[in-house]
Amino acid sequence: MSSYIIRGGNRLEGKVRIGGSKNAALGIIAAAMAADGPSVIENLPDVSDIKLLLSICSELGAEVEMLGPGEVRIDPRSVLTHEACIDLVRKFRGSYYLLGAFLGRFNAARMYLPGGCDLGSRPIDLHIKGFEALGAHFEMEQDGIISLSADKLEGAGIFLDQVSVGATINIMLAAVHVPGMTVIDNAAREPHIVDVANFLNAMGANIRGAGTDVIRIEGRPVLPGNISYAIIPDQIEAGTYMMMAPLTGGDLLVENIIPKHMETLSAKLEEMGAVIEEGGDYIRCTMPEGVPLRAASFKTLPYPGFPTDLQPQAVTLLCKAQGTGRMIENIYENRFQYISYLRLMGANIITSGKLAVVQGGSVLHGAPVEARDLRAGAAMVMAGLMAEGETTVQNIYPIQRGYENFLDKLHAIGADIEEVGAAGVRPVW
Ligand code: EPZ
Repeated sequence: MSSYIIRGGNRLEGKVRIGGSKNAALGIIAAAMAADGPSVIENLPDVSDIKLLLSICSELGAEVEMLGPGEVRIDPRSVLTHEACIDLVRKFRGSYYLLGAFLGRFNAARMYLPGGCDLGSRPIDLHIKGFEALGAHFEMEQDGIISLSADKLEGAGIFLDQVSVGATINIMLAAVHVPGMTVIDNAAREPHIVDVANFLNAMGANIRGAGTDVIRIEGRPVLPGNISYAIIPDQIEAGTYMMMAPLTGGDLLVENIIPKHMETLSAKLEEMGAVIEEGGDYIRCTMPEGVPLRAASFKTLPYPGFPTDLQPQAVTLLCKAQGTGRMIENIYENRFQYISYLRLMGANIITSGKLAVVQGGSVLHGAPVEARDLRAGAAMVMAGLMAEGETTVQNIYPIQRGYENFLDKLHAIGADIEEVGAAGVRPVW
């Protein structure tokens, strides 16, 4: 198991180039598996979740060919099964998009329940409700196998009781092949929903309204594919680096991003005292010398609200700010587990249910901590960057699930960080 060793205190400055969106890529790879022809996907992030999903596609019979760094050609025509009962499926969340893709393409899907970060209970009832509305019969088999089958599927109106990124994408993936009109009401509006819809439309689907809370999908019998498509930049990777500027009193140019996707974070960082300069595809985030970092209140919400995937990083930043900061976590019931490690490093944080109150300004000191999940892992690295002395972040595999070339990117902006121990990532390309 690998660890990062971080010697804190360096001011970070320079440029960071952001990779493709992991969560868009997961939906888009599954979308490629629903096509009737090959697709070329560009700007794929070099992270382990993507490698796992490509491995699954290839194990299921798809032709998966890496054309170059971050560029893959997927030809799903050789996939003749709707079953994905292989262990890799249980290792991450995004594998569940094959349910929608296969249900639409084969009128059936059967696979293990997905894995993913431990953030409290993560039901998939809304996905199932959507599939059932389209006419699928659902059964939960032994050993955690989800089984969906249908004699006939037909477009339907589906109201999501709760805004769900995964359910919105999964229902879109199925509905593109289903005859008639499907309308998803109270749909999620995250940038990656729009990206998956754009990819599906380029493949030949007819989806309108992605990016709003009502998405209309008119099913098509054939989705020819034969496209080349570049994935949008990763909003969460970009946000993580943006926060490292005020965290270390630094000056970072975060490039290859869509600044619009960062608006909520940019506004918060400005409120805290950072200077934000926006260009066409970059944001420069600077902490002016002599200006104190001020505390702020955050509330996680579906897009365009503050993303839950930036919550642990923001709480870590609040540890440095002057005054009392607040974080309300509205999306997940158990996404404060990492706070015990921040306390171990000297942070003054009280939690009660959805609320964390951070009394900022305490000096953190290095300690052995763990990457409990992907974003909490990034937050631990951030804590190490500002702490006095040496921090060891153990079990860094979750971080590698979502941050490409993390070590190289951090070195390039001046961080003192090294990786020790055996690499935990399964090499695929
Ligand atoms: C996606 O998870 C992302 N994962 C998560 O990113 C992200 O935290 C989350 O969206 C919210 O933005 C992927 O895209 C692979 P949801 P997802 O369905 O789709 C409840 C990361 O760090 N819910 O929007 O699983 C659910 O419990 C990861 O990159 C139901 O109750 O999230 C949660 O409270 C972690 N029933 C809320 O909705 C359902 O059927 C939002 O979940 C589905 C969800």
